[in-house]
Amino acid sequence: MNISIQGLNKIYPNGHQALTDVNLDIHEGMFGLLGPNGAGKSSLMRILVTLMKPSSGEILVNGKNAAHNRGYVRGMLGYLPQDFSFFSNLKTYEFLDYAARLAGMRSKRRRSQAVDEMLESVGLFDVRSRKAGKLSGGMKRRLGIAQALINDPQIIIVDEPTTGLDPEERIRFRNLLARLSSKDVIIILSTHIVADISSTCEHMALLNRGEVAFTGSPEELLRQAQGHVWTINVTEKEYVEVNQKFQVVATVMMKDGWKVTVVGDEVKGYDAQMIQPNLEHAYVYFVEHTLKKTNL
Ligand SMILES: Nc1ncnc2c1ncn2[C@@H]1O[C@H](COP(=O)(O)OP(=O)(O)OP(=O)(O)O)[C@@H](O)[C@H]1O
Ligand SMILES: [Mg+2]
Repeated sequence: MNISIQGLNKIYPNGHQALTDVNLDIHEGMFGLLGPNGAGKSSLMRILVTLMKPSSGEILVNGKNAAHNRGYVRGMLGYLPQDFSFFSNLKTYEFLDYAARLAGMRSKRRRSQAVDEMLESVGLFDVRSRKAGKLSGGMKRRLGIAQALINDPQIIIVDEPTTGLDPEERIRFRNLLARLSSKDVIIILSTHIVADISSTCEHMALLNRGEVAFTGSPEELLRQAQGHVWTINVTEKEYVEVNQKFQVVATVMMKDGWKVTVVGDEVKGYDAQMIQPNLEHAYVYFVEHTLKKTNL
């Protein structure tokens, strides 16, 4: 299994360029697509699931051009859109049965078994007879995930699946995906939450303003940000200045001023100390880095 994204561009009809020359190779396992709001994550995913055409470039799924083989791609796909909504008048299990039918599962018996198993594994079995529209926000999210997984897809694309989940739900969801990723499947997960990526994904890309700012493992992201994160002890006067000059990622109030953590290539003229970056620092560093590049 592999997905190769080559020279992908997307310009919306209103002229907005959402993706610029995106090149990515994605293999089995969990792939994290990280990026701030408006980075182009959903646009890329919509193109991946063949719901939208790119302006140029192509996607190869196991060597086959996705645009010319939509049936082939869709047949192995499970997709949870960011704005997932469903028929609220259906009961939870009815909705899932409906999704299974849409995914092409014809046998009623097989469907019913798959629905029960799925309800169990996302923890919705006890509320299976509740109207889908009456589920809590987190439960609705889980139902969204369930409908994406019901047909045993080989490619799972989930757009911001943890939005609105509480920490417990989030962990539960991560574990569910981690279990799945032990199979021969590709899972692509988009998020703007750094922690979602660090704990589950071996491979990731950081998208910013439609461009791939980084691709590799979360560890490599950290490594590459090394030497670019500093803490500076500043007086009140200096604080304003530092805020203008650098991207501040944390501020702690001290007895005689502030201790700020900043990302930047070089910090001169201040009482600065280089520190080990964490993933959030690294994320900010790379986002800033591409910003500077595109502003040139
Ligand atoms: N149909 C559209 N027409 C015009 N511009 C669009 C359209 N859809 C998205 N955009 C723009 O393209 C850019 C990328 O949007 P996209 O939804 O792909 O980002 P995202 O990374 O998923 O953001 P978020 O984290 O907020 O979900 C944004 O600037 C957005 O406003
Ligand atoms: Mg999005």
